[in-house]
Amino acid sequence: MPERPVGVDYSELHRLDSPANRLLRDSIWGAAADIGQQSFITPRYLDDIIARLRIGPDTHVLDVGSGTGGPAVYIARATGCRVTGVEINEVGVETAGRLAEGAGLAERVRVVQGDALHLPFGDAEFDVAISLNVMNVFDDKTAVFREVRRVLRPGGTWAFLSGTFELGPDDADARARLARGYLIPQFYDSLAQYKRKLYDAGFRIDEAVEFISDFWVQVGRWGDAYRTHRDAVAAEQGDETTDYHITYFRTYLDLIEQGKASNHLLIARAPGGDAPDTPV
Ligand SMILES: C[S@@+](CC[C@H](N)C(=O)[O-])C[C@H]1O[C@@H](n2cnc3c(N)ncnc32)[C@H](O)[C@@H]1O
Repeated sequence: MPERPVGVDYSELHRLDSPANRLLRDSIWGAAADIGQQSFITPRYLDDIIARLRIGPDTHVLDVGSGTGGPAVYIARATGCRVTGVEINEVGVETAGRLAEGAGLAERVRVVQGDALHLPFGDAEFDVAISLNVMNVFDDKTAVFREVRRVLRPGGTWAFLSGTFELGPDDADARARLARGYLIPQFYDSLAQYKRKLYDAGFRIDEAVEFISDFWVQVGRWGDAYRTHRDAVAAEQGDETTDYHITYFRTYLDLIEQGKASNHLLIARAPGGDAPDTPV
């Protein structure tokens, strides 16, 4: 039998109601804060993002890497807006469809299978694009940003939440542990690197907001949940993947405590529209 590679995709995590995922999700969020997210996102983050981006009933939002669709459903329900998600993993797409249907929001929340590097949409289709805890999977982030810019209307808003890392030559071990630890390869950028890549893709940056307090708690909770339910998770997801996850969350938390990892919301604007392209 061929060896099962570690960390191929998100399929196992995207089956939200599997026995192991139920244990993990109940430990991390409990019923009140489990909105069908597959990330470090909480309702509080989403409320903050909705307010900052002024999402309302007339906004058409693109959610890049929408996962199981929980954040898309939450945003559509809270604002009356339309959300289109794009997600590469088919289990995530199916789960998101069921979630939207169950929430009675199938007309306003649609998730399509596709790759953020080749977005399956025409030019200028969206007012706002968001992405939540996805950017680390992309080696070429400038290429993703250019694709997002293409599908945004002139003056549209691009906002993504991502871990940010200040790693030096002494952090080679930590970098290797993180890289193997989370299902698919990860590519870590510092805040400065993100800013430069946004400018390279033609965006103007409006805000870079550090969201660290909840983030620290969320990373800790994921790690605690994996340790507490290690055997049940390993029975479903395999020993190797489970133990890599535990190492990943421990490493992430250590880096946060050393001041080398954080979590930022970057809000940028596409050129054109009513907003001035250069400061006045
Ligand atoms: C940590 S999850 C976040 C999901 C969701 N944003 C949330 O907060 O619940 C990252 C997601 O990115 C998706 N993804 C990875 N590579 C992608 C790509 N090239 N295009 C679209 N989605 C991708 C993964 O399948 C996964 O669902």
